[in-house]
Amino acid sequence: MKKIAVLTSGGNAPGMNAAIRAVVRSAVAWGVAVVGVQRGYSGLLEGDLREMDVTSVSGIINRGGTILRTSRCPAFHEAASRARAVEVLTARGIEGLIVIGGSGSSQGAYHLFAETGFPVLVVPSTIDNDVAGCDYSIGFDTAVHTAVECIDKIRDTADSHERIFVIEVMGREAGFLGLETALAGGAEAALLPEFPWDLEELCRKISAWEQRGKRSFIIVVAEGAGSAAEISAHIAAHTGAETRATLLGHLQRGGIPTVDDRILASRTGAAAVQALLEGAKGQTVGVIGREVALTPLDQVCRTKKKPDPELFALVNSLAC
Ligand code: ADP
Ligand code: F6P
Repeated sequence: MKKIAVLTSGGNAPGMNAAIRAVVRSAVAWGVAVVGVQRGYSGLLEGDLREMDVTSVSGIINRGGTILRTSRCPAFHEAASRARAVEVLTARGIEGLIVIGGSGSSQGAYHLFAETGFPVLVVPSTIDNDVAGCDYSIGFDTAVHTAVECIDKIRDTADSHERIFVIEVMGREAGFLGLETALAGGAEAALLPEFPWDLEELCRKISAWEQRGKRSFIIVVAEGAGSAAEISAHIAAHTGAETRATLLGHLQRGGIPTVDDRILASRTGAAAVQALLEGAKGQTVGVIGREVALTPLDQVCRTKKKPDPELFALVNSLAC
C-alpha cells in the first residue's frame, strides 16, 4: 500500500487524537502516505479529506476530542452510501482505511468491508466500552476517571447535607462506565442495564442503613438502566430521605486522556497500520489481556460484551 486514510467516527472519546497520531506517524515511518478524513463517515461521503504528515499530529497526544472531528452519519446505514465511500477513497488512490470509533462505527466498517472487500480496520474508541474485540476501548479509562472525580466532589455535599445522590453516567445501552465508576467511587449501589435491579429492595436497604446511622449515599445509575431524576424522586418518596439527581453528561466525553488511554491508543493505532500493510482487513485491532489482538469484524459485531459480574458483586458486597 502506498496511501491509507484514517477517520474518527461516532461519539468523541479522549485518546482519539493519540490514536490519530500513532496512525499517521507509523504510516509515515513505513513510507506510506496518510489522508485524514474529516467528520467521520459524513466527511468521507463528501470527500472532505486532507493530506497529513508527521507535523499535522504534533502536540495532540494530550488533547481530548479529535482534530479530525467526528459525526453521526445516518446515510452510512445505506449500502449505496458505503459504495460511494469506496469510490471516494479509490478515486484518491487510497488503498486502506483505519476507522477509530465505537460499536456503531464498527458496524459501518463491517458492512463496508463485507460489501466491497475494501481493506478496513477498526481501532475501538468510545467511552462506552461496548465493543467486543478489546478489553477496553480508547477513552473509557479517562471517562471513568472523570466520573469518579465528580463523585468525589459530590460526596462532599452528600456527607455535609446528609443526602442521597443519584448520579447518572453515560454508556448508552451498556453498563461498563457505570460499573467501574460505582466501584472506584465507593457507591452504595450501581444500577446497570445488564444486571437486574429492584428499586423497592434498594429503598429497604437505604432505610435499614439509615436506621444504623448512615446518613449519605451515592447511587450510580447507567443511562441505559434508568433516569437519575426518576430514581431519585422514587427514593425520596419511599424513604422520606432528601435526594438529589446529578447528570454527568458530556463532561465524561472530554478532557485530557489518561496515561492508560494514551498508551492504548498509541499501541493499537500503530498496530493497525502494521496489520493493514501486512494484508489484514475487516478486523478490529484491540488489546486483549496484555497483547494486541485482531478480531474479525463480523465476530465483533455479533458479540455483546458484558461487564464483569464479579466486579458488580463487589460493588454490592463492599457497600454497607
Ligand atoms: P459509535 O461508533 O461511537 O458507537 P454511533 O453508534 O453513532 O457511534 O455510530 C457512528 C456512525 O457509524 C453512525 O452515525 C453511522 O454512520 C455508522 N453506523 C452505525 N451503525 C451502523 C450500521 N448498522 N450500519 C452502517 N453504519 C452504521
Ligand atoms: O457513545 C458515546 C455516548 O456519549 C453515549 O454514552 C451516549 O449515550 C451518547 O454518546 C450521547 O450522544 P450525543 O453526544 O449525540 O448526545
